[in-house]
Amino acid sequence: MDRETAQNRVKELHNLINQYNYEYHVLDNPSVPDAEYDRLMRELTEIESEFPDLVTPESPTQRVGGEALSAFEKVEHRTPMLSLANAFGEASLRDFDRRIRQAIGDDFTYVCELKIDGLAVSLQYEDGLFVLGSTRGDGTVGENITANLKTIRSIPIRLKEDLTFEVRGEAYMPRKSFERLNKEREKKGEMLFANPRNAAAGSLRQLDPRIAASRHLDIFLYGIGNYGSLGVDTHSGALEYLAKLGLKVNKEWRKCQTIDDVIEYIDTWTEKRPDLDYDIDGIVIKVDSIEQQDRLGFTAKSPRWAIAYKFPAEEVVTRLTDIELSVGRTGVITPTAILEPVQVAGTTVQRASLHNEDLIREKDIMLGDWVIVKKAGDIIPEVVNVLTERRTGEETVFHMPTHCPACDSDLVRLEGEVALRCINPKCPAQRREGLIHFVSRNAMNIDGLGEKVIGQLFEHELIRDPADIYFLKKEQLLELERMGEKSVNNLLAAIEKSKSNSLEKLLFGLGIRHVGERAAKVLAEHYETMDNLIAASRDDLVTIPEVGEKMSDSIATYFESEEVEELISELKSAGVNMTYKGPRISEAAESGSIFSNKTVVLTGKLEKLTRNEAKEKIEALGGQVTGSVSKKTDLVIAGEDAGSKLTKAQELNIEIWDEEKLLEELNR
Ligand code: IVH
Repeated sequence: MDRETAQNRVKELHNLINQYNYEYHVLDNPSVPDAEYDRLMRELTEIESEFPDLVTPESPTQRVGGEALSAFEKVEHRTPMLSLANAFGEASLRDFDRRIRQAIGDDFTYVCELKIDGLAVSLQYEDGLFVLGSTRGDGTVGENITANLKTIRSIPIRLKEDLTFEVRGEAYMPRKSFERLNKEREKKGEMLFANPRNAAAGSLRQLDPRIAASRHLDIFLYGIGNYGSLGVDTHSGALEYLAKLGLKVNKEWRKCQTIDDVIEYIDTWTEKRPDLDYDIDGIVIKVDSIEQQDRLGFTAKSPRWAIAYKFPAEEVVTRLTDIELSVGRTGVITPTAILEPVQVAGTTVQRASLHNEDLIREKDIMLGDWVIVKKAGDIIPEVVNVLTERRTGEETVFHMPTHCPACDSDLVRLEGEVALRCINPKCPAQRREGLIHFVSRNAMNIDGLGEKVIGQLFEHELIRDPADIYFLKKEQLLELERMGEKSVNNLLAAIEKSKSNSLEKLLFGLGIRHVGERAAKVLAEHYETMDNLIAASRDDLVTIPEVGEKMSDSIATYFESEEVEELISELKSAGVNMTYKGPRISEAAESGSIFSNKTVVLTGKLEKLTRNEAKEKIEALGGQVTGSVSKKTDLVIAGEDAGSKLTKAQELNIEIWDEEKLLEELNR
């Protein structure tokens, strides 16, 4: 090949490769298979190695530059890179809207955009060529990270017009890249990144661009440094213009006429957020007209024409001040982290279960540590990890006790279990928890007998076992805190009503080990009366489908106890029903399920089912799936990252299930 042919071919190859690159990384719509792209890249590399003087900085082969840097150069921004004021909640958005109206009147339009959770960067183009990329730094001076930014395939090295200007946007790590990266790091025993934003920041801070290249970062551009003579007079026009130049613009932006439209946009994205393949931490709202933006101007730190609505934080840092121990119904000792109160996803969190000692050791949790807390599935608070770098030396190691904190008997660790247990059947803490379970909704369902009232009754020694509930006197109840005539009457009525529950509710309420709700129903249906069940032998019990050896053993052992015999006879004498009344399970499946006639709302991201699959299954079982939470909603299924619908359900006291519980019920 002579030099001239090579030069021409190089030009052709640049154009083709840039075009395919643009289709793949910006438009997400490739027109040729990957192999064709790779073939052209190989051809270009070969020509360049034969004619090294044809290698130019804009060649697609130069995305991953050669040498590692020893430090990043400082870059002074021509126009300062400001940040936005934040708004939390609707009220502050309405304040923002009021301020705008006061300043420029009512005739304006907003543009709403997703607030990408990454790093602000600036890209400078000269005559259409990408020449300098920098971080925001302190807003005035940033760092030159051109080599790292060049590795982002959606950043065009050459624009579709020979333009000199500065464009700004957010570099980020897509969730898929993040997951892959952390998996690889885990394999190699390296520290994991806490979230995609930290991973993106860590990648762009690497002096060796080959590392950044391996991290598969991406970018969305959302603004122009200086409009100068670009002929753009609205922000929406700017976004369209950027896209036309071949830059990657997030396509979810919308024009909104009123603040109500803005709030609707926010609600939509609070809901759809988990489905995105990148993280967003809020919504950015901007006044569209550049002339109106200029009139509104800036405060010292941020423009008056824009605001960032922030989603409630889902992971926050707080201090673990203590570890409290509780004794569960089955004697399991559970350590709970006591936290300095913090807001997580809209509610105050001050406790988080630590489950067991192994977990405390695994996470290396010490008393006094700073920890990251999140809500798992957005419902249950969880300690994610410890900020060991914040330790001062004042922290102390936590040891599980050797004796039960409630009854002081020796704790044991049963074979194959991680949990420590108190095995004293008379342990008051276990009894109290057992009573709370007995009256709970899925057991005897005694309204008005919550944890607090049970606690008081227990402390006043008015109840010791479930049968005592049925012998409570009105005068005794009236002496309790916050119990007036009316609530006492209601409570007595609820206790009375529970006497006629079908057998399975009582069986479940007794809290026999390994007998869950489903097993209780199977047993009640099979034996029909308590006496039949008590008379059943281990051998008889195991023949029932769904009843294994462990459960048979546990049931037989339970009824062998004298104390239990006494309890059952007291319950009988109180008039508690001991027979099965419910429809047969097989009939129940036909005539109705737990979902029949229920209004169900799905929110957040489900892992094992798609939304549609979940909807179809619930509807097949007689439920109705609707889009929004109201007083009429019976049940909310909350997946990962559920947002405002979940909060609303919590406010309205609506039953909430996670995906696991949904699957369990669907598979019954
Ligand atoms: S506009 C004058 N739009 O959020 C500042 N920012 O403080 C103009 N961000 O640091 C910023 N997505 O890095 C804008 N669509 C978006 C954004 C966005 C993410 C970041 C940006 C900035 C911070 C706001």
